This record gives sequence, structure tokens and C-alpha cells, in this order.
Amino acid sequence: MIPFWFTEYLRVNMESITIIQPDDFHLHLRDEEALNSIVHDSARQFARAIVMPNLKPPVTSVEIAMDYRKRILACLSEDTNFQPLMTLYLTDKTSSEDIDDIENSEHVHAVKYYPAGATTNSEFGVTNLEKSYPVLEKMRDAGVPLLIHGEVTDPDVDPFDREKVFIENVLAPLIQKFEGLKVVLEHITTREAVDFIIQGPATLAATITPQHLLYNRGALFKNGLRPHYYCLPVLKREEHRQAIVNAAISGNEKFFLGTDSAPHAIGDKENDCGCAGIYSAFNALEIYTQIFDEQGCLDKLELFASVNGAKFYGLAVNTHKVTLVKQSWDIPKSLPFGYSELIPLMAGETLQWKLQTA
Ligand code: DOR
Ligand code: ZN
Repeated sequence: MIPFWFTEYLRVNMESITIIQPDDFHLHLRDEEALNSIVHDSARQFARAIVMPNLKPPVTSVEIAMDYRKRILACLSEDTNFQPLMTLYLTDKTSSEDIDDIENSEHVHAVKYYPAGATTNSEFGVTNLEKSYPVLEKMRDAGVPLLIHGEVTDPDVDPFDREKVFIENVLAPLIQKFEGLKVVLEHITTREAVDFIIQGPATLAATITPQHLLYNRGALFKNGLRPHYYCLPVLKREEHRQAIVNAAISGNEKFFLGTDSAPHAIGDKENDCGCAGIYSAFNALEIYTQIFDEQGCLDKLELFASVNGAKFYGLAVNTHKVTLVKQSWDIPKSLPFGYSELIPLMAGETLQWKLQTA
């Protein structure tokens, strides 16, 4: 007879999960040498990614987006099937013709709204949303989603309240005014955001990052100031982290995977005025899997990572499958990034899940 401890050993050590290949619905790929050093990390895990347009200068037309898409694909070998899903950056100059161009494009899928000054390279963003109303009407009619960085920029509003105030003062009226407009509130960080999404119309959804599932704001101050845990919107209190975790594992189709992986060179983070952004593309899928496992909800991972986002964007769900195995591995302390290096999420720590490569 096989002893109990042996069968238990096998069960734990052979644990694995096979899911439809996921997509990343919020990704920063940067450009040039930086792009070349990071895009492979996303392509290894995800079939597709919604690529953020906050380059310098920003991606403001379909033509610019198509050139950027070519540069992304040029970094990948021909047998890689990774599909970049492009977005345009909403500025005061975005026109209805730009939305016509999106409608006629196979590769541009959404428009990103950064309130001017809210985050990295957001200085080109919208100064007064009312100026964009004709564009938003056109987007609503064409079914083009508006992706929102949901934080007010008023310096008098406490940084930890900026998402909540944005929802009350900007998002709620916007949703009311543009009924039917598809909206994704990106990288949600608060209980208020979770509640707002759940109560909102079916055209309203949200992405969730790995860092907002893993950490509360205490991580920023653990034994000193920790620039590699700094992103925008900033990490919040523990009660908010728990609300985000519950939303992700709920299976609710309004919540889906978007890493907001946002690499910065080490020197730009460990700096007098450090940049916002956390690089998670190296190990994102494994981190999400670990979190779902810890919550006892691995059965909901596929909905969150591979189904809900595709459905919201009106895309076919991927056909390829991927397998993750329960196996510990160590995350490198740093990774190459263009001519420099970066510190990835969970650098130097051990993860319990690993993506199986063919
Ligand atoms: O932390 C962030 N970094 N938040 C953003 O919204 C932008 C991003 C970046 O591009 O670095
Ligand atoms: Zn982002």
C-alpha cells in the first residue's frame, strides 16, 4: 500500500493548471532598445496585449500606432504569435476623423485618457474633458473603448484619495452623459472603484495589476523608502487591497487582467524624484496564479486572465492553452533594460508557480 504521506507528496508536487492563453489588457512596452529588451517577457506569457500610447511623443494617430506596432513586431522572431493591440492617446487635438481611422483599422482597439499631469508622460493629456465630448460621442457610436487613468490631478487632493475623487467628480458624470460608451477604469486600487464598477452598466469594466493584489501601501515604507514599489495610482490601505483581491477572484466579467507593467531604468527609480511604474511583465502570470492559488480560487483564474477581457473588447478568446506548474523558482535581482537595468516585481524573491515552456 502507498503510504499517505507519499500520495500527499505527489499531489502537492504535481499540481498544475492548464488555461486558455491569457492576454494583458494594459501594458507599457516603451520603444527602441528598451522595447527590445522587454517585449519578449510579455510575448512568452501572453497572446495579446493592449499597448499603452504614452511614448514621447505620444501615439496620437493610427498612422503613428501602425509604425509603433511594426517596431514591436520587428523585435520578435517570426514564430512568435504575440499580437500587440494598439491604442491612441487622447489629447485636446484628437478629432472625430481619428476615430474614423480606428474604425477602419484592424489593429487599433481603444483610446487612452490621461488627465494632463496624472502620471508618466501625461503632459500631453486632456486638460478639459469637455473639449473631447464630440470625440467621445463618436467613440460611443463606433464601440471604441475609452481607457481611463482614473486620478484627479488637483495638488490639493491627497494622493491616496485621487482615484476616489476622480470616480465621484469625473467618472460618474461621464458614464451618465455617455450612456453606452465602453469604459475601462485601468489599474483600480480602491474599494470605491470596485463598488463603482460592480454597480455600473455592462459597458464599464476594470483592469487589475499584480502589485495592487500583492501589496498595501505599507510596502512603500518597509524598513525605509522603497522606490520599486512606487506606481500610480499609488498602493492603498489593506482594506482596499482586499477589495481588489475579492474582485479579481470573483469571476465577475467586469474585472480582468492588465499588468500595467511599466519599466523604468534603475537610476530613474532610485532617484531624488523617482518615476512611477513597476515592471511585472517578467513574471506576471505566475504572480497572478500564485495569488489565485493562495485564495483557493484557481478555478477563476482563466476567467480573469483569458476570458473576461477578450469578451469586453469584443475579441475572440484565444485557442492556444498554457500550463503552469507548482514549482518554486527565484526571481532575478535585476534584468537588462536598454543600456541600463531594471528591478522587476518580486526581485530576489521566490515564486511558487512557473509557466511551462514548450
Ligand atoms: O505607475 C505608472 N507608470 N502608472 C502609470 O499610469 C504610467 C506608468 C508609466 O508609463 O511609467
Ligand atoms: Zn499604465
